Amino acid sequence: MNETPTTPEHGGPPPSVPTREVAAVISRRRFLTRLSLSLAGVCAGVLGVPVVGFIAAPIFRKVAGVWRDVGALDDFKIGETVSVTFEDPSPLPWAGVTARAAAWLRRENERQFTAFSVHCTHLGCPVRWMPGANLFMCPCHGGVYYADGSVAAGPPPHPLFKYEVRVVDGRHVQVKADAIPITTTL
Ligand code: FES
Repeated sequence: MNETPTTPEHGGPPPSVPTREVAAVISRRRFLTRLSLSLAGVCAGVLGVPVVGFIAAPIFRKVAGVWRDVGALDDFKIGETVSVTFEDPSPLPWAGVTARAAAWLRRENERQFTAFSVHCTHLGCPVRWMPGANLFMCPCHGGVYYADGSVAAGPPPHPLFKYEVRVVDGRHVQVKADAIPITTTL
């Protein structure tokens, strides 16, 4: 049978302690508990906000475009559309392979190139260049783009995004790695 503790050794108040003193002890304990929890919350806020800010800041920082080498001029044949890869304008330290971006690059003539984003403007799936059909095709929902990147069929709401391209020193082809607009249309 369980007995209610009645002595200080068993955790109960001494029988002779007046009820008012017991109530004072309990309310002091409650006050100290709340004070400890409040201080812990303040400390967590003071330490946590800078840490979260440090981690999240790169995600919201506006990034300027950066020119990236994608190959030598002689690597590209006039009239051909090929896939090129380059590094993101602001790779996060923990980005890994996701810092790699890609584009479809076409050499239009001796000095002029066009670079298309590989991301479909519907929901961002990677589009493929089909040389036989002269079209970009999206495998996800049947989006189709003409060779100039404009929409031919399917749900894409906008033409393919284009990157700037330049030839440096008459030898190096560079693509301006830039943030591409995020599509929100379903
Ligand atoms: S993501 Fe390309 S058609 Fe939907």
